[in-house]
Amino acid sequence: MSKTATLTVNGKVYELPMIESTIGDTGIDISKLRSQTSFITLDPGFANTGSCRSSITYLDGEKGVLRYRGIPIKEVAEKATFVETAYLLIYGELPTKEQLSDFSHAFSRHANLHEDMKNFFLGYPNTGHPMAMLSAMICALSAYYPELLKPEPSDQEIDLMTIQLMSKIRTICACTYKKSIGEPFIYAREDYDYVANFLHMMFSTPTKEYKIQKPVVNALRTLLILHGDHEQNCSTSTVRLVGSSWANLFASISAGVCALWGPLHGGANQKVVEMLEEMHSTGADITKYIERAKDSNDPYRLMGFGHRVYKNYDPRARIIKSKCDDLFNTLGVHDPLLDIAVKLENAVLKDDYFKERKLYPNVDFYSGIIYKAIGIPANMFPVLFAIGRLPGWIAHWREMKASKETRIGRPRQVYTGEIERDFVPIEKRK
Ligand code: SDX
Repeated sequence: MSKTATLTVNGKVYELPMIESTIGDTGIDISKLRSQTSFITLDPGFANTGSCRSSITYLDGEKGVLRYRGIPIKEVAEKATFVETAYLLIYGELPTKEQLSDFSHAFSRHANLHEDMKNFFLGYPNTGHPMAMLSAMICALSAYYPELLKPEPSDQEIDLMTIQLMSKIRTICACTYKKSIGEPFIYAREDYDYVANFLHMMFSTPTKEYKIQKPVVNALRTLLILHGDHEQNCSTSTVRLVGSSWANLFASISAGVCALWGPLHGGANQKVVEMLEEMHSTGADITKYIERAKDSNDPYRLMGFGHRVYKNYDPRARIIKSKCDDLFNTLGVHDPLLDIAVKLENAVLKDDYFKERKLYPNVDFYSGIIYKAIGIPANMFPVLFAIGRLPGWIAHWREMKASKETRIGRPRQVYTGEIERDFVPIEKRK
């Protein structure tokens, strides 16, 4: 592999350094391109542009490979708890018994919100989308830890913010759900682990304790792990960009929640179930929907299909699909939406339009079916995605803060507007 790339512009030759990876894409360093050539690059959506070096997650989109700190996703999903996975993503290694115990106990100690925060929920209409409340409440958490909001917090201070966010996101999410159904908030229990506590705060009431069922905890654990991190996706890039201005971790994560809410990103899981429900209610004529998705004059898309990086089956979707069958068999339930989803997948995978564009089911295609089987409403699905993705967001924010290469994110543009013209007084405007 040569050490430089050659660029010829207007007859002048420039040598650009190559940036070696341990595996995957090699980079061409254009950090001095404008000063050397007076030119910039243009890459809408950044499909060909690396924003940083990172050692957290590796994806191979062509082969459908996903590894957290080098460990294949299938192994992590089968063998780890969500708290172990969060530790691996954030600190780079699987925790020892003692490290895991300390991490877990810290989550138990910090699970409940300051009582004043309950008032914040009162101002929201119960029809408000939970992602609006989640983003606001995460940013509001910063008001309770002013001593941590330094431009350059110490590792210990970042650890404290990590614990507060990881522990309290469950409580905030459960509160958004309770708010939407008009039930009182439920306090976390010291004797429950991470996932069981979330289910308890979601579904227990003051008069009835929710019965924790192992298959449900296991299904939710798997989903949270599968959403743990996904390198430089839209919301993670948002967290890194906001953090690059020295905004605090709470504010950066709050911005990530907003980016994740978009239906093209983490909001897709809610849209998938709404799409499947519409297909079910109209007699499951999936052909009509497939033809609409293929029509270039129709903005309609089949939600849960396609991916910027995966040009093969999303490995997470494969694991989630297998979990659907396990959970339904264990719970003795069946959701007709799963039959429609499988029918839709089979039709899409045979269709040339989707094959030519390498459009496969992604992580959002089957996840909502499991959330629904657990009793979680569709507008809460992006919130569950956020709980799973939080350790990844935190890991990337910490990596960005620690990197000597980090500068405030400020892209350039190719200007295509008016060159220069005079101000026109209002009486002369047409
Ligand atoms: C996530 O980046 C990540 O890692 C994200 C994520 C993570 O873990 O963080 O994996 C989570 O966000 C998964 C994606 C969830 N979104 C959806 O399911 C929404 C539906 N899918 C898309 O809109 C789309 O596929 C994206 C947004 C996921 C990817 O968009 P790209 O890479 O910009 O691709 P594109 O829009 O340029 O599409 C390329 C072609 C186009 O057709 P042509 O113009 O070439 O004729 O494929 C078509 C698109 O019209 N296409 C689809 C389609 N997705 C792409 N056509 C119909 N249905 C679809 N779902």
